[in-house]
Amino acid sequence: KENKLWGGRFKEGVHESVERFTESVSFEAEELWVHDIRGSIAHANMLAAQGLITEGDRDLIIEGLGKIKTKIETGEFVWRKDREDVHMNIEAALTDMIGEPAKKLHTARSRNDQVVTDIRLWCRDAIDRILIRIKELQAQLVLLALRNDGLIVPGYTHLQRAQPVLLQHLLLSYVEQLERDAGRLINCRERLNFSPLGACALAGTGLPIERFMTSQELDFTAPLRNSIDAVSDRDFLLELISANSITAVHLSRIGEEWVLWASEEFGFIIPSDSVSTGSSIMPQKKNPDPMELVRGKSARVIGDLISLLVLCKGLPSAYNRDLQEDKEPLFDSVKAIIGMLEVTSVFAANITFNGERIRSSLPAGYLDATTLADYLVKKGMPFRTSHDVVGRAVALCIAKKCQLSDLSLDDLRGINSIFEKDVYDFLGVENAVNKFTSYGSTGSGEVQKQLQFWCSKLDIT
Ligand code: ARG
Repeated sequence: KENKLWGGRFKEGVHESVERFTESVSFEAEELWVHDIRGSIAHANMLAAQGLITEGDRDLIIEGLGKIKTKIETGEFVWRKDREDVHMNIEAALTDMIGEPAKKLHTARSRNDQVVTDIRLWCRDAIDRILIRIKELQAQLVLLALRNDGLIVPGYTHLQRAQPVLLQHLLLSYVEQLERDAGRLINCRERLNFSPLGACALAGTGLPIERFMTSQELDFTAPLRNSIDAVSDRDFLLELISANSITAVHLSRIGEEWVLWASEEFGFIIPSDSVSTGSSIMPQKKNPDPMELVRGKSARVIGDLISLLVLCKGLPSAYNRDLQEDKEPLFDSVKAIIGMLEVTSVFAANITFNGERIRSSLPAGYLDATTLADYLVKKGMPFRTSHDVVGRAVALCIAKKCQLSDLSLDDLRGINSIFEKDVYDFLGVENAVNKFTSYGSTGSGEVQKQLQFWCSKLDIT
């Protein structure tokens, strides 16, 4: 058995169970190696510039790391669990390859600042990947809106029919939510983009390092000011996966809506075969599984956040080995959210709205009742009174089994003499939708403005 990199003071080898229990290379190597090598190159450059290693040693180190990179990419590199983590695997492999100079790489560095540097770099990339997916989904939703110009759908509150809205308006409400999700990630990226490298174990170092140099080479904004803070905190992770959790909740709600709308009872959405799956027993079935799984996977994204919050809450300052447990929830959260965004985009691109079915369903539910109350307000009636008058009109409709627009002027005047012939311009869902004019409302003028805004923002022509 080879000596551990930290083996000097140890007389006994590590118990096999402990080795198996404490290793992290098996679940982190694939994600972190690129960043680990990048960080090591920046560190070596800085050590040489500061005269802590020779330029010759630096060149050997960087060349060796380059070869290791190629080996990893080609699948030749052997990750060893007895070498514990990604950092020591790479350092030990470098030592195997180039000998003495490799032993200088860890000068003025600890795995504590190394690991959190790697993770910050990883998060930065992850955020960039998520942002691309969010924009893609927004674009698909806008395209879906453009394909469904003028289609009116029932708007619901309490899942009861409320007021008619343009489908475009509803789809753009999702786009707005996603925009805030992106904004949270952008904020988070700005806040996390500071360099922990050079904080060393927790206290910094007396060796003449230059943290601004590594920070700059790694495209960080600046080094973190406080070395203890640098290795202690994982708040940036919590922010990232909190943001993911909120995105997941948004996607889950879209999932729920679309699953519902794809049901026989609604029948508003027809998913194409390419985004549906069947049943192993019921031959007739066609299920909207992707969106059910979007709803389902939101659970794990939220679970990942809870795991990390609980992980961090009891830790004293600076590095604790518990923090190694940050990786799996982080990777899982990002993987899940990217998958959810991607499949929701694909689903959006592959559904049609059943206009006929939707239109034939619109007369039910008195969707124009509130517009009728507003009509009476325009005639000078106090809103509370008009609410009551329309309530009576609805009650009459229920008794006569008809719609508000089916009531005769006499029927209406029987309730209140204020009604005139022009009332029929306010009844029926089309009329009702056309009456909306307030900023951000579902009126077609307002919705057109929203659409134009998003088309230009998302470069859709
Ligand atoms: N594998 C460790 C982690 O992920 C790296 C840091 C280990 N540091 C230490 N002092 N044991 O957190």
